[in-house]
Amino acid sequence: RRSRMTVPKFREAKGRRKLAMLTAYDEPLARLFDSGGVDAILVGDTLGMVVQGKSTTLPVTLDEIIYHAEIVARATRRALVVADLPFMSYQVGPKDALRSAGRILKESGAAAVKLEGGREQSATIRAIADAGIPVMGHVGLRPQAVHALGGMSRIQRESTGLKRDALAAQEAGAFAVVLELIPQDLAAEITASLEIPTIGIGAGPECDGQVLVGPDMLGLTGFRPKFLKQYVDLATIVEDAAGRYVADVQSGNFPTDEHSHD
Ligand code: KIV
Ligand code: NA
Repeated sequence: RRSRMTVPKFREAKGRRKLAMLTAYDEPLARLFDSGGVDAILVGDTLGMVVQGKSTTLPVTLDEIIYHAEIVARATRRALVVADLPFMSYQVGPKDALRSAGRILKESGAAAVKLEGGREQSATIRAIADAGIPVMGHVGLRPQAVHALGGMSRIQRESTGLKRDALAAQEAGAFAVVLELIPQDLAAEITASLEIPTIGIGAGPECDGQVLVGPDMLGLTGFRPKFLKQYVDLATIVEDAAGRYVADVQSGNFPTDEHSHD
């Protein structure tokens, strides 16, 4: 693909081919995931955990998401760039949410936003979509509701409610919906019942697409839930490189004449 992935093309992929999405927050990984061919990059509020080292996503601010989304949008050529609306940037109500979503598009260059919720966020999804801002829903495990849900690793099994949430997101105008940590049969059922793509994480193979946290998939974070496939162990590679550099500096093996100027 030469031209940039658009929201209509993303939607039209449903039933034709699977969509691959990763999260990224900085220039190097965004650029490399983009040239590696991902369809979309999410500037997730996992920023708080993966980049800032915090224990939840709750402290992430709208300004921080905009800062990172601007970097990611600039670093990419082909991927659709989606940015998360962080905690408390949309929960107060549709007007507040629309202002936050508008700031993301104006100030970062991302093409779409994502928020957590289905039924209870219907009016908000509608307000954002009606303004011409593509919005993705996110149902199942919702990390911004960590304290209400009692953790971030519990499989969400309330099938009737989850089906209603996904349908509500679609009816309100979402162009896609993330399904996080739900049984694979339920994800398959939801996927078959919707016209918009489902993007799964811990939701089995029947979703229309998949999303993983980029640094998790690269083995940088040490987070290894059952749903993750770790494609490379970068932690070991980076640690080893740092250790060899330290040893070389200490022993005088680096720098040598090769790295020096006359
Ligand atoms: O913030 C994030 O990384 C996400 C994905 C895991 C879907 O919301
Ligand atoms: Na998120």
